Amino acid sequence: MKVHVLNGPNLGRLGTRQVDVYGVTSYADLVELCETTGRELGLDVIVRQTDAEHELLGWLHAAADEGAAVILNPAAWSHYSIAVRDACAMLRGPLVEVHISNIHAREEFRHHSVVSAVATGVICGLGVDGYRLALHHLHHLHHLHHL
Ligand code: DQA
Repeated sequence: MKVHVLNGPNLGRLGTRQVDVYGVTSYADLVELCETTGRELGLDVIVRQTDAEHELLGWLHAAADEGAAVILNPAAWSHYSIAVRDACAMLRGPLVEVHISNIHAREEFRHHSVVSAVATGVICGLGVDGYRLALHHLHHLHHLHHL
């Protein structure tokens, strides 16, 4: 089962970026965590990050064409990008939205995600562990469907 783990703007700077909010895990460590978890679960995991919205849209279109599962941290785009939401709405596989921080406990403008209404589910505030949990969820889902 193929899983695209897609990350939006500024997430490539994890580890040095606002460590009090996002923790000390670097982006390279996050990629490693997702790939290791994927190997353990027998998932075909592809991890990507971009600061360019059109690039994320292209990846979402490709995932939609493949019918693949997606784990998405849309970062700041969560709060205003209708284009990212519309691309998410085209997905045919499950979509897990992940936020490292608890967006509801932060500034008002972070409380709403335009993506959440088209996501299968949302994980936020559990740090980078949210990605691991999302992969486990997709693994369980896959097994349930194949019983
Ligand atoms: C974030 C939360 C967003 O509000 C913020 O813009 C980010 C990261 C998170 O993972 O907690 O860039 O999505």
